[in-house]
Amino acid sequence: MNIIDAFLGEHGSIYVIMDQLRRLFAADASAEECQATLKLFCEVLEDHARVEEEIFFPELEQFPQLQQGPLHVMQVEHETLDEVIAFLRNQTEADKIKEICNEFFELVASHFTKEEQALFPMSRNFISAERLDELGRQWATRRNVCVE
Ligand SMILES: [Fe+2]
Ligand SMILES: [Fe+2]
Repeated sequence: MNIIDAFLGEHGSIYVIMDQLRRLFAADASAEECQATLKLFCEVLEDHARVEEEIFFPELEQFPQLQQGPLHVMQVEHETLDEVIAFLRNQTEADKIKEICNEFFELVASHFTKEEQALFPMSRNFISAERLDELGRQWATRRNVCVE
């Protein structure tokens, strides 16, 4: 199991929850209804970022072309996403939550697109398929997924 493919699968699941939230917002759902799904979204997103940072990013840091380019951008964006999530957790007004989420969702989508179109393809060029499989096994252990 290649770790990049695992991350792409996680992006797919996060897109599904993000679409669900967009629909809830468009349907004028109550703040409580929005917060329940939003809480799940933020927890899944945070955990996805932590796994990228703990298992994958250290592997990329040994390549200056990645470290000084796309990896640095991704690390800064993870910090920004953490700040937005912390800010969102303190919001209680539905209109304010929706307003913040409009930008938040754009940020998440843009971050994922950069990983999918730049960081991940570049990483496949620098890291061997065998090593990406080994990292994928670490991902599977962390996620309790059986891949053998
Ligand atoms: Fe990320
Ligand atoms: Fe990601």
